[in-house]
Amino acid sequence: MSDGRGRWTSRVGFVMAAAGSAIGLGNIWRFPYMTGKSGGFVFLIVYLAIVFTMGISVMLAEVVIGKAAQRNPVGAFAKLGGGLWPLVGFMGLTAGFIILSYYSVVAGWTIAYIFKTPLGLLNYSDPKELAEMFGKFVGDPIQPIIYHAIFMALTVLIVVSGIEKGIERWCKILIPALFLILIVLIVRAVTLPGALKGIEFYLAPDFSKIDTKVLNAALGQAFFSLSLGMGCIMTYASYFPREENAPKSVIWVVSMDTLAAFLGGLAVMPAVFAFGFDPAAGPGLTFITLPAVFARMPLGTLWAVLFFLLLFFAALTSSISILEVVVAYFVDEKGMSRKAAATLFGSMIFLLGIPSSLSLGVWGDFKIMGKVFLDFMDYLASNLMLPLGGIFISLFVGWFFWDRGLREATSEGRYPLSWVPLWKLVCRYFAPLAIAWILISGIW
Ligand code: PHE
Repeated sequence: MSDGRGRWTSRVGFVMAAAGSAIGLGNIWRFPYMTGKSGGFVFLIVYLAIVFTMGISVMLAEVVIGKAAQRNPVGAFAKLGGGLWPLVGFMGLTAGFIILSYYSVVAGWTIAYIFKTPLGLLNYSDPKELAEMFGKFVGDPIQPIIYHAIFMALTVLIVVSGIEKGIERWCKILIPALFLILIVLIVRAVTLPGALKGIEFYLAPDFSKIDTKVLNAALGQAFFSLSLGMGCIMTYASYFPREENAPKSVIWVVSMDTLAAFLGGLAVMPAVFAFGFDPAAGPGLTFITLPAVFARMPLGTLWAVLFFLLLFFAALTSSISILEVVVAYFVDEKGMSRKAAATLFGSMIFLLGIPSSLSLGVWGDFKIMGKVFLDFMDYLASNLMLPLGGIFISLFVGWFFWDRGLREATSEGRYPLSWVPLWKLVCRYFAPLAIAWILISGIW
């Protein structure tokens, strides 16, 4: 292509990069504690239902917009929709700013754990001690911010150096490796004495627990985990070879992400119960329980380092996809250089992350809507802005872009889509109405 924009080398390239964006802290850090907070199995079922109806549908909608426009989200909506539509892209950029700010803080923890483990600093098999360690570490006013800075710097570096070759190549190795190590972890976790209670909590139905809070949490989790609603997948799809099979790619990405989340839950939940933790403990869950599982494994230190290394890489392949959205906009539309845009906005996002980090320590008493700053930012972006973006993306494709969108989805009819009627219904009515209903009832 002569437009100077990159291209994935193949459909697999896109699938792996999009899966790299989707699979990250959302699956292994956020999903388990959201599940724990929101009723276990019931949350899982609601989550799956949302992913396989609205998730797939909104992702395909993002892909066809990106594929058709070959632009960043703001530019894409300006080109294809005009009027006020670019605002949807701007909301996406804002959500990206917010998400990356605290995402990088948590990703920084993974770097810290990579180093702390072989130094023997986490070598406790007593989870209570690990919990204390974790609390002390994340509550420190300096240490986690340094790791946050390191992680942000790495993200900037990769985005500056252009992402296509790097991302595609890395994701193809790292994603399968992550799956492998998750399975090893699960085998150990489910065979811990007392693990059964966790498996029951995770996999035994109690439908009396469904309420609008659970729905809202599951909706937010689905959008966060699938990287939807802010134009991330749209941006990646703008590098998609036009003749490739989009729906098939979407199904692959959604399935891989969902499998990773399910396995993430299966690795964490049994251990939570085996060690007598509260499953609703919050953002520390993964970082406290898993080291205790590792401590009970032969070659535990090695596995632990490997695991945090992979989690770090998974986080990195997600964080670059977020920064890429912001950078693509300023490069495409404002003529900034990649380097300037990535450095400037990377630094701003770093600064915005500092209060999130401090909110787990010295600023812990400062609460918005009963949430500490990190949780509030997460709630604002994931549970409100991303689903809101999903509503508009669905409406856009369902009502204003349908014929062209369908041609993009099927590559001019080359890949007939058996679920076209269903996709249309979901885009036009089901997704916007269901998301709106969940948002409104979840907030009040
Ligand atoms: N999906 C990523 C994860 O699960 C996070 C993310 C959210 C990435 C939004 C891009 C956009 O870790």
